Amino acid sequence: MSEMTIADTPVSSPRNPSAAATAGFELDSWSRTRLQQVELALNRWVTADVPLGLSHGAPAELVEAMRYAVLDGGKRLRPLLVLAAHEAVSHPVSTSTSTSTGLGDVATQEAAMRAACAVELIHAYSLVHDDMPCMDNDVLRRGKPTVHVQFGEASALLAGDALQALAFELLTPQDGMVLPATQARLCALLARAAGSAGMAGGQAIDLASVGLSLSESQLRQMHELKTGALLQASVMMGAHCGAPSAQALQGLQTYGAAMGLAFQVVDDILDVTADSTTLGKTAGKDADNNKPTYVSLMGLQASQAYAQQLLQQALGALDATGLAHTEALCALADMVVNRAH
Ligand code: IPE
Ligand code: IPE
Ligand code: MG
Ligand code: MG
Ligand code: MG
Repeated sequence: MSEMTIADTPVSSPRNPSAAATAGFELDSWSRTRLQQVELALNRWVTADVPLGLSHGAPAELVEAMRYAVLDGGKRLRPLLVLAAHEAVSHPVSTSTSTSTGLGDVATQEAAMRAACAVELIHAYSLVHDDMPCMDNDVLRRGKPTVHVQFGEASALLAGDALQALAFELLTPQDGMVLPATQARLCALLARAAGSAGMAGGQAIDLASVGLSLSESQLRQMHELKTGALLQASVMMGAHCGAPSAQALQGLQTYGAAMGLAFQVVDDILDVTADSTTLGKTAGKDADNNKPTYVSLMGLQASQAYAQQLLQQALGALDATGLAHTEALCALADMVVNRAH
C-alpha cells in the first residue's frame, strides 16, 4: 500500500491545507497494526461458529461463500475510517479526564472494532450483490472470481443477505461489552446508510439510470447514496464509539460527506484510467454498461479537479472539528483521492 504514504507531502503544499497536521504522520505504519486487528477480527467473526451461541450453526457452503467475499482482499478503507474517527474523538478525552481509562477504553475499543467490521461486512455484501448478473454482471472482484461465479447466484444472494445480518449481530453483543445506547446508535447509523435512503437506494438509482444522461445534481445524489452514505457512516460510527463534542460531530459529518462523494468520483475515474490487474476488478465496465459517471458527465480532467476540490472540503471540515489529532483522517482522505486502485 505504498501509495497510501503521505508523510513526504510538503507542509507548504497547496493541495493539502492540513498538511501541517499530518507532518511526521506515517499512514502506512498507522494502518499496519489496525489492518492486522481487523483481519483477525473478521476471520474470527465470519465463521460457522454462531457468535451468539443461540442457533444450530450455519451450512458450511454458505459460510464458505461469506468468508470468500470478506476475507483476504480489499483496501479496508471503511474499517480504517471507523478506527481513525474513534481515535480522533478519543484523544482529547483521554488526556484531560480520567474517565476514559481502564475498562472504559477497552469497551470503546471493542465497540470501534465491532463497528469497523460491521461496516466492512455491509460493504462486502454490497459488492457481492453489485457484481451479480442482475446488477453490474462482473466476474472479477478483489483479484478473484466474483462470488456468484465461484458459488452460483443463489449462494451469492444468500451470502450477501447473511453478511448484512451478521453486521448487526456484531453490533449487538450480549456480553455487556458495548453499552446498550451505543449499540442502538451504531445500528441506527449503519441501517440508515445501508438502506433505501443510503446504499440500496443509490444502487436502485444507479440501475434505473443506465443509458440516461443525469444532471450533476442527480449524479451527485446517486453517488452520495450508493457509496458516500456508508463511508460517512463509517466516520460517524467511529466517532459515536467515543464521546464526541457537537462541534466534532458537525465537522466529521461534513468531512464524511465530502470524502465519501470523492471516493465514488475517483472510482469512476479509475474505471477509465486503471487496468483490471491494478484494480482487481474489470476496468472499463461503466462505459460498457452505459452507466452515467462523473467522467461521462464532465470528462476526465474536470472529474479529477472535482475530486481534488472535494479533498480540500474534507480537510477544511477536519480543521473545523476542533480535534487535536485528525492526522489519520487527513491521510485517509488524501489516500481516497490520490489512490491508484
Ligand atoms: C468499491 O469499493 C465499490 C465502491 C463503493 C465504489 P472499494 O474500492 O472500497 O473496494 P475494496 O473494498 O477495496 O475491494
Ligand atoms: C458500487 O458502485 C457501489 C456499491 C454500493 C457496491 P460500482 O458499481 O461503481 O462499484 P465497482 O466499480 O463495481 O466496485
Ligand atoms: Mg454498480
Ligand atoms: Mg459495479
Ligand atoms: Mg465503479
